[in-house]
Amino acid sequence: MDYLHLDRKKVDVVAKRMNELLASYQLHYQKLRNFHWNLKSQDFFTLHEKFEQFYTDANLKIDDIAERILTLRVQPISQMSEYL
Ligand SMILES: [Fe+2]
Repeated sequence: MDYLHLDRKKVDVVAKRMNELLASYQLHYQKLRNFHWNLKSQDFFTLHEKFEQFYTDANLKIDDIAERILTLRVQPISQMSEYL
């Protein structure tokens, strides 16, 4: 029995979209890390710290999204090839 008593077909559609959101966030996170590391600017230290705040926030959201997918009894994607 489905512990949430939800329509499995509808749950799978939602979970698929959530996995797409997870993939987008993972790519966003990686781009923020790239900006954090490779930024060239006179404001390097200010922007370096700001990008760290952004990727830290993105990382928390990634974990929330993945764990919500798990609550639907669907496996969150986790391979870079799947994100792409
Ligand atoms: Fe750093």
